[in-house]
Amino acid sequence: MAKVRTAILISGGGSNMEALIAASRRPDYPAEIVLVVASNHKAGGIAKAKAAGIAAISFDHKAHDREGLERAVNAELEKASIELVCLAGWMRLLSPYLIGQWHNRMINIHPSLLPDFKGLHTHRRALEAGKSEHGCTVHFVRQDVDSGPIIGQAKVPVLPGDTEETLAARVLLEEHKLYPHALELVASGRVRVEGDEIVRA
Ligand code: GAR
Repeated sequence: MAKVRTAILISGGGSNMEALIAASRRPDYPAEIVLVVASNHKAGGIAKAKAAGIAAISFDHKAHDREGLERAVNAELEKASIELVCLAGWMRLLSPYLIGQWHNRMINIHPSLLPDFKGLHTHRRALEAGKSEHGCTVHFVRQDVDSGPIIGQAKVPVLPGDTEETLAARVLLEEHKLYPHALELVASGRVRVEGDEIVRA
């Protein structure tokens, strides 16, 4: 079985990237992580990817305008014959250029139960809203930020005394299980998207 050539885009520590790389080591896992791209040179995930034997490159997003950065990233994706892109803490808004290039071939993880709490500071906002449940979502990327057909979600309880940090840590543990599972579903073809509808085989 040919594995789907997959790239991971990061901006930070890359713990979701690590979870995806770990899962992809399974012989029967349908995706192979062949490239990690970081939006800044300081992203902690770069060294982790290299330590795992995966090609990693970084850009200084401040040196480009938005589309310029995306064109440079896209050239690297094409050079590596990438078929599927996973955003894993890529903290740059995307323009129609990159989203168009990767329509239905780019997925993202977001730390909330979408459509609740799109954007930043999701854990703080879940606490402020008095939610009893919170979680994370993996979805296909569309132009509207943190929207797009949902592949999967994982829920966690919000516990008495939770802080932004304790809640974030509980969600992150679920992200590390959800994202590898969602990538497996997409790369194996068990989940695909028609129009804006998810189709499950
Ligand atoms: C994760 O919690 C991810 O869901 C979030 O950034 C964190 C990255 O952590 N993504 C977003 O907020 C995107 N809107 P990581 O670098 O350790 O995987």
